[in-house]
Amino acid sequence: MSAPPDTVLEVDEAEAEAIRNAVRTADPLTLGYGRMLARPEHAAALAHFFADPRVSGAIYDLPRPFTAEVMNTWILESEALRQEGRRLLILTFDETAQLVGYSCITVWPERSAAELAGAIRADRQNEGQGGAGAIHSFGWVFDTLGVRMMGLTAAVDNVRSARLIDAAGFTRMGERDSVRPDGTVRRSLYWEMMAEDWKARWG
Ligand SMILES: CC(C)(COP(=O)(O)OP(=O)(O)OC[C@H]1O[C@@H](n2cnc3c(N)ncnc32)[C@H](O)[C@@H]1OP(=O)(O)O)[C@@H](O)C(=O)NCCC(=O)NCCS
Repeated sequence: MSAPPDTVLEVDEAEAEAIRNAVRTADPLTLGYGRMLARPEHAAALAHFFADPRVSGAIYDLPRPFTAEVMNTWILESEALRQEGRRLLILTFDETAQLVGYSCITVWPERSAAELAGAIRADRQNEGQGGAGAIHSFGWVFDTLGVRMMGLTAAVDNVRSARLIDAAGFTRMGERDSVRPDGTVRRSLYWEMMAEDWKARWG
């Protein structure tokens, strides 16, 4: 499951509560066109989306197998965690209401920290959309949720993710073991970024 960043910040209760509140009240449409919180009626579309290994193969923390039932459970769990200020599962739909992307933002309010995982449909990959979208999303997490740091992981062989995370200015912090929901371990590259460094770089 998602693990919090290695760096531990001191966070008082007022800051943690402000972050919880920001997560609960965040409007996905402020992230971009076609964004919405995942709802149970999206379960079948999400299962179909993740059935493509070009979309899901590199993402360690997805619940498997990709059935509508498993997705429904994940959506309900994500909504419960959103109410606690701990997760946002956001889907992206195109003009024809097709699911073309997802982002799962895990938040640790008591650590003032967040992580983001995401993917776009295979026919949209390798055109620069993911890189641009990721930088936009990282900025949205800092600005909208008010966390002071983000940690990111990527499989050691996920060249595209590593390039876009490096390009966003995150600092490489070595490697870590990421634990999949089934308990198996995946070796990951690991990065961190502080909000103040993000603002200095991207405004
Ligand atoms: C990761 C993902 C969001 C990236 O989006 P994308 O639109 O495909 O990627 P981009 O076209 O923006 O490319 C990202 C970078 O990788 C580079 N790249 C792409 N293919 C590459 C390859 N085969 N070898 C080396 N670099 C490559 C691009 O040139 C770009 O770097 P640059 O900005 O320095 O030129 C998308 O590919 C995806 O959804 N992948 C499946 C899920 C996944 O891996 N999610 C991330 C888990 S951490």
